[in-house]
Amino acid sequence: MKTNFIQKVAIGCSVLLLFFVSTTQAQTYAENGMVVSDNVIASQVGVDILKKGGNAIDAAVATAFALEVTHPEAGNIGGGGFIVYLNSEGEVTTFDFREKAPLAASPTMFLDENGKIKNNSNHQGLLAVGVPGTVAGLYQAHQKYGKLPWADLVKPSVELAKEGFTMSYGLYNAAVRMTDRDPSEDIMKNYFRGENGQIVKPGETWKQPALAKTLKEIQKHGRDGFYKGWVAQEIEDYMKANGGIITKEDLEKYEAVEREPVKGTFNGYDIYSMPPPSSGGVALIEMMNLMEEANISEVEFNSTAYVHLVAEAMRRAFADRAEFLGDPDFNLDMPLDRLLSKEFAKTRFENLDMTKASISDPAQFGHPYGGDNTTHFSVVDKDGNAISLTYTLENSYGVKMGSSKLGFIFNNEMGDFNPVPGETTTTGQIGSDPNLVAPEKRMLSSMTPTIVAKDGKPYLVIGSPGGRTIINTVFQTVLNVLAYDMRIDRAIEAMKIHHQWLPDRILYEVNLLSPDTREALEKMGHSLTPTTNIGVLMGITYDASKKLYTGASDSSSEDGGARGY
Ligand code: GLY
Repeated sequence: MKTNFIQKVAIGCSVLLLFFVSTTQAQTYAENGMVVSDNVIASQVGVDILKKGGNAIDAAVATAFALEVTHPEAGNIGGGGFIVYLNSEGEVTTFDFREKAPLAASPTMFLDENGKIKNNSNHQGLLAVGVPGTVAGLYQAHQKYGKLPWADLVKPSVELAKEGFTMSYGLYNAAVRMTDRDPSEDIMKNYFRGENGQIVKPGETWKQPALAKTLKEIQKHGRDGFYKGWVAQEIEDYMKANGGIITKEDLEKYEAVEREPVKGTFNGYDIYSMPPPSSGGVALIEMMNLMEEANISEVEFNSTAYVHLVAEAMRRAFADRAEFLGDPDFNLDMPLDRLLSKEFAKTRFENLDMTKASISDPAQFGHPYGGDNTTHFSVVDKDGNAISLTYTLENSYGVKMGSSKLGFIFNNEMGDFNPVPGETTTTGQIGSDPNLVAPEKRMLSSMTPTIVAKDGKPYLVIGSPGGRTIINTVFQTVLNVLAYDMRIDRAIEAMKIHHQWLPDRILYEVNLLSPDTREALEKMGHSLTPTTNIGVLMGITYDASKKLYTGASDSSSEDGGARGY
């Protein structure tokens, strides 16, 4: 086909643009920096900060606050999460801003007189709320490593909340679902409503004046804007009035913690991820070691042998997770060095039979909980600093409650503790000690923000929501890139499975595993259950030879996307 003059100009322009930023349907390329998040408005907020001279930490702080406004299902100031940070010198650190149990919490706080969980109270109602950590974590990371003033990073979100942004179809559908679901569980009755009292429709502007005021306070006073002053007072008042136990003392005492990352290697790449209180990094590295031991690159992707090996690695890592892991400040004897070692991987596969499934022994453990409404974003800047940040409210819209004076929703993260001491069931509820409730303890998480580095430079920045499936989603995506050499978008979209020890079954993404493979796996003794989708990954890879970042957001994210410059 002949090209006319206008087409030639257009082609010329796009070639020129390739040097700055370019997007195909599935991937976005950029030379100077990139943010990939569950909401493109928030990704753009982060990139604008990078363009103003901010570093990856600055962009992450700005993106996190923007997601509170534009992706309130999981973006939050009322929850908690983790940052993994690789700097341009190749050094890695992490920030733990996981929620904590309030001072008045106890191991049996969710039980009735018969020792059963009362009214789903570990997930429903204000007893389920952990002391939020997000603002403290972002503030601490910024104080230590940020470049631009704090106020400049919160400003875009104050404006987004005050001036509003265009309601998307995805958010509107969630708003209808949340508003209609159960009036007794009302999330701030007017939260999604405009001045006319109706839920704001797609294409209309959604403003959040109460949230704008709260964010303004945080913009002015940093950490203290949330944990002290009128915001803290209103949190305490709201808790008291509605059956919660979080007090101003809980808020004042909350501290985020900078921790050493967990580190593993796979075929010459360095893998950095989140240590406890997340179980994600330990389980990820244990499974990568098992895959290296099994020489997985030689096994055909998606074959029967592949699914069997991957599922057996998951089974073992989840058993170890449940037996050993919890808040490190309360569990001083966790055998992390052993779990992370290559020698351990050798012994863990000793009883693996390539012809049949292992058995999940109910006397052992598997963690049943973990909400699926978490969100992850990845950031890189022009100097090679990289951030992998996952944070959460636990369930979609957390506990679905919040003060209308504050305009944000609280988490229901207390549901990530083991609810009934000593009770472990084949359905997967566990009662082991490391993750029982205690005052000021952090509940075990599955979030797995991860950075893979090659020669000290970021190679892959990745993470996902999905409760317990997070660990396995990130694991298989890292494997897809490192062992199977897949492009980031293909690694994200490729078939995923999930096994978590108990219940003893493989979840698989429907239509992505052939009937023959399923039949072969069933003959080996595996039980298979289809599910629609596993994970919502947000990833960036770096090609050092071309000095080019490539980003991709999971197609299952309705409003997500990569932005770069
Ligand atoms: N709430 C999900 C997690 O932390 O694993």
